[in-house]
Amino acid sequence: MGYNIAIDGPSGAGKSTLSRAIAKEIGFIYVDTGALYRAVGFFAYQSKINADNKDAIAGMLSNIEIDLKFLHDEQRVFLNGKDVSDNIRMHIVSDFASKVGAVTQVRDFLLDMQRRLAEKYDVVMDGRDIGTVVLPHAQLKIYLTASAHDRAQRRYKELLEKGQSVSFDKILADVIERDKRDMSREIAPLKIADDAVVVDTTGKTFEQSLDLLTRLIKEHLK
Ligand code: DC
Repeated sequence: MGYNIAIDGPSGAGKSTLSRAIAKEIGFIYVDTGALYRAVGFFAYQSKINADNKDAIAGMLSNIEIDLKFLHDEQRVFLNGKDVSDNIRMHIVSDFASKVGAVTQVRDFLLDMQRRLAEKYDVVMDGRDIGTVVLPHAQLKIYLTASAHDRAQRRYKELLEKGQSVSFDKILADVIERDKRDMSREIAPLKIADDAVVVDTTGKTFEQSLDLLTRLIKEHLK
């Protein structure tokens, strides 16, 4: 049984960069579960399947095989044998990922893989329902959040750095819409687990947030 740290929260709260840095610091494997939903979303996007059509999304799962591999501590996601770790970062795929994440069959399809990893390894696993559904017995649960404006600003900078041209207003609107969808869906909605520690990074730099989280986690690992 691995030591499990669950980190949930809305998009852009810094979950992935912070989780990756912390996992490295404490020698755990970092599992980014958003990448799994993105891989399913990417398949729908590539296959031109309407992401709002839940039956079509559920139906396409029999054509999908997803695998996570950890190369030099870096997670790579494979879709039908092809490494799609970079493709799934396209802005359009975020929307598809959020939509396919609202389909029960998709969540069931990805559940075992996440639990198996957490059983086998010490993990820092980030997502939306890790502390509430995937790993309800995680030794430590953190709910990481920040204001929608701060989160949109970070996402905006990230996309600009990747050379994707987007407008800030569009990103902010997308963040708000995605939050709403992730929090209001019927199955495994994004919510704070009863036993989670809430960490708000609004107005904090990456270093300040990392410091805060590292102290919290090391205190728990003692
Ligand atoms: O963490 P991310 O932004 O890469 O995730 C993309 C989408 O995938 C997110 O909008 C909702 C969905 N997701 C989910 O439903 N459950 C998870 N554990 C992780 C992501």
